[in-house]
Amino acid sequence: MNGLNEIGVPTHFIRRLNMREQLIRSVEIIPLEVIVRNRAAGSLSKRLGIPEGKVLPRPLVEFCYKDDALGDPLVTEEHIATFGWASQQDLDDMVSLALRVNDFLAGVFLAVGIRLVDFKIEIGRVWDGEYQRLIVADEISPDSCRLWDIETGRKLDKDVFRHDLGNLADAYTELARRLGVLPANTTPVTKPTLIN
Ligand code: TMP
Repeated sequence: MNGLNEIGVPTHFIRRLNMREQLIRSVEIIPLEVIVRNRAAGSLSKRLGIPEGKVLPRPLVEFCYKDDALGDPLVTEEHIATFGWASQQDLDDMVSLALRVNDFLAGVFLAVGIRLVDFKIEIGRVWDGEYQRLIVADEISPDSCRLWDIETGRKLDKDVFRHDLGNLADAYTELARRLGVLPANTTPVTKPTLIN
């Protein structure tokens, strides 16, 4: 989020307070998950029969309606306009934000030998005086991205858990080490630790 703020992609993040808490801007969340895909995987491969890993002709932006009970269904811009979830201007801004996040994140991960296959972001509305604008909110994490090692194809994201591919803590620790957010000799935390 800091990196995005620095390149001029606005996010809700203000500053980290401690290891567990962040100060963020309050937003009115738009009830859509914005997914960007660089390669086929997951529900896209399933839906359209495209082999997992196939490079897409261009980054593909999809919208899902945020409703767990309905399984976050894929929706079109027509649904979004019809039900008033976002205006046409909002949609244009969301696509533009999502593609800028994609460019930035793809570079961050490429630098540490990881391919950004796809990811999901959420976007919120804030008001500056009488003007509204959209900013990136919620989280960006290995729970909401597909990240594959460029050399080996090893998955370093939540698919390890979803498809029972091994130890999730090992995968996340490896990712954190590569990104430099954990020292090289850290052992994975497999159980939550109570901090007094
Ligand atoms: P999908 O292939 O299951 O549609 O997921 C695409 C990407 O979006 C993947 O990186 C996982 C992420 N995602 C979430 O983080 N939360 C969700 O509720 C969904 C549907 C996808």
